[in-house]
Amino acid sequence: MRSRKTNKTPAWRSLLGGCLGGGGGVGAGDKQRKVRPGGGGGGRLSFTDLSGAADHHDLSVSLVGSNLHVFSVPELRAATRGFVSGNFLGEGGFGPVYKGFVDEGVKKGLKPQAIAVKLWDPEGAQGHKEWLAEVIFLGQLRHPNLVKLVGYCCEDEHRLLVYEYMEHGSLENHLFKQIPAVLPWSTRLNIAVGAAKGLAFLHDAEKPVIYRDFKASNILLDSNYKAKLSDFGLAKDGPEGDDTHVSTRVMGTHGYAAPEYIMTGHLTAKSDVYSFGVVLLEILTGRRSVDKTRPNREQNLVEFARPCLKDPLRLARILDPALEGQYSARAAHKAALVAYHCLSSSPKNRPDMSAVVEALEPLLKLTDDVPVGPVGPVGPVVLFVAAPEPVEEEKKERAPRKDGRRRRPMSPKVTVSPRKRAAAPKEEFWVWHLPAEQKA
Ligand SMILES: Nc1ncnc2c1ncn2[C@@H]1O[C@H](COP(=O)(O)OP(=O)(O)OP(=O)(O)O)[C@@H](O)[C@H]1O
Ligand SMILES: [Mg+2]
Repeated sequence: MRSRKTNKTPAWRSLLGGCLGGGGGVGAGDKQRKVRPGGGGGGRLSFTDLSGAADHHDLSVSLVGSNLHVFSVPELRAATRGFVSGNFLGEGGFGPVYKGFVDEGVKKGLKPQAIAVKLWDPEGAQGHKEWLAEVIFLGQLRHPNLVKLVGYCCEDEHRLLVYEYMEHGSLENHLFKQIPAVLPWSTRLNIAVGAAKGLAFLHDAEKPVIYRDFKASNILLDSNYKAKLSDFGLAKDGPEGDDTHVSTRVMGTHGYAAPEYIMTGHLTAKSDVYSFGVVLLEILTGRRSVDKTRPNREQNLVEFARPCLKDPLRLARILDPALEGQYSARAAHKAALVAYHCLSSSPKNRPDMSAVVEALEPLLKLTDDVPVGPVGPVGPVVLFVAAPEPVEEEKKERAPRKDGRRRRPMSPKVTVSPRKRAAAPKEEFWVWHLPAEQKA
């Protein structure tokens, strides 16, 4: 339910006033300011609501966020010990991230805790819009599998975001940089289930959200390796009414974005499902979605791995060798089938995220066939080779066409290079976020 109130806006108005160029930014004098959840409407404020309302300064605190703290730059400088390099956690398209600590009494109602502070780099790939999307979406959405936005800072040209500190950093670091150690099978599966629950929550919300940037670096891990989604800078409100999709400029990360979204700009929740399939493949294989250091035919993970997912023996050959065979072959095969369907080239053949959760969660209990001790390079001996019932899509792929012509291969091809696509009319909007390692 949307409602607009004009008599109760100081915190939000000053945030937007200052941050959308209307003057009156949140300054150091607003130290104890906190944007609270509204008492009225109950519905989430959509990004579109906000943009429209911001134009005519008609916004209500009651529609905004939950318990967001408004910080000043000096407060965050103190919390991070002057953004000292020893506190540097990493850097993405928005800017650098630093670890910090808020002491007792710095903010009324905020308990002393470790935080992660993300600073906007004006030279970076993202800007104010992404900052605002993060505040709007993450400020209002609360779920155990979404990272908690503690607050923000919007002072003059400064844009900062303050998150709960996630002790084990990103899934990307663990999978590909193996910091501090190889993630065991059960942890990987738990992470996949947690991340799937985060996406399912977004898709099934009263006002659905399409996350649009699902990838290993945006899955953060807390002290118990519980997965939480971060970075809502590219998130979009889902289609409304009879609309089947949102038309948007194509943004995302090379290797994770769904092929039909890249080609048409039509965004649906199923685009997230495809990206989930890519991450699930990364979790299973320990390979990056795009890896230019590998031989040509192995560089695109989906193209390389999808044909192996249905056959347990072929699957065993591509599972992450770092696991040293310490996984349940049955669970791995079932998880691989989930990935297979998520990666269908046809969005309607991909499962909903709630179905993905239902399929993956029971696999956590499949532990009786985990080998004791390391096994050979292609994984454990596969004793259980269940021939799965062909699902509808597979049946279709196998069946000859009525017109007698051969079917086109169904495997998705995400091979359109940004340069090639630059000639197409939509191209001016295409923004590649290259995986961290290729940014340099
Ligand atoms: N809340 C947090 N707690 C702990 N570490 C964090 C937190 N948020 C981010 N980080 C660290 O900072 C790094 C950079 O994060 P950031 O989201 O800015 O970039 P990215 O995900 O690598 O790229 P992109 O800009 O494409 O999202 C992460 O990989 C992670 O290691
Ligand atoms: Mg990120």
